[in-house]
Amino acid sequence: MIAAAGDATDRAADAIRERLGSLRPAVLIVLGSGLGGLTRHIEVGARLPYHEIPGFPLPAVQGHRGELVAGMLGGRPVLAQSGRFHLYEGHEARTCALPVRACGRLGVETVILTNAAGGIRRTCRGGALMLIADHVNVTFQNPLAGPLVPGDERFPDMSDPYDPGLRSLARDVAWDRGIALEEGIYAGVLGPSYETPAEIRMLERIGADAVGMSTVVEVIAARARGMRCVGISAITTLAAGIGPARLSHEEVMAAAHRMEGALGSLVEGIVARV
Ligand code: HPA
Repeated sequence: MIAAAGDATDRAADAIRERLGSLRPAVLIVLGSGLGGLTRHIEVGARLPYHEIPGFPLPAVQGHRGELVAGMLGGRPVLAQSGRFHLYEGHEARTCALPVRACGRLGVETVILTNAAGGIRRTCRGGALMLIADHVNVTFQNPLAGPLVPGDERFPDMSDPYDPGLRSLARDVAWDRGIALEEGIYAGVLGPSYETPAEIRMLERIGADAVGMSTVVEVIAARARGMRCVGISAITTLAAGIGPARLSHEEVMAAAHRMEGALGSLVEGIVARV
């Protein structure tokens, strides 16, 4: 079991390394639902479809492509994960974390995570971007549970899951580029059903400003490998019971698409100054 989890990381990392050639990415950008268009900002060097990477499942969710895109962004070599693995698809937490772990093995030190999220705080309405200050893992899944994966820390400190220096940089870039940026706490839930109004009231009471179905598991795995994280939520609508709208995946995707320009600019600015 120990060997199996470590091997999965090694096998994926080896396959990615082989395709990268001389490119040595320092940053991994994880693209959220409806945010795959961020790859348009990348000067593409190579596209690695998931079926070429051992252990990477093919994504089933509409709006996710299923490839790693390697290239230059903001003058820096990057890898972008277009199509992430979600717990709600039935994947284990360690599968959701595999791309982050494999990139850690390749020497990637910084992870920029994007996601679509519902706004709980009233200033986090549809169209807002929210820098993630901290998270609450309400999925109750943890990619570190089970035998220790080689390269992971067994009991990583989670005092600063989202790196203070990178958050400060994100605020600076947003200011310089005239991009409005909220900052708040992200609650990661299992999904795939959206929350009930009562659940949103509960999340509000435990301190959440936004809610979504990703990110927390990847951040835990990244921190266990000493990788620095910065997370940005594209708030697609207010969450259930707060706004009048009913939630639908199509609406969430359409709203996320509308934010790709601002989010792409913010991500590019962060990469350029990391
Ligand atoms: N809840 C969970 N995930 C989401 C939401 C939401 O309201 N909006 C976009 N992703």
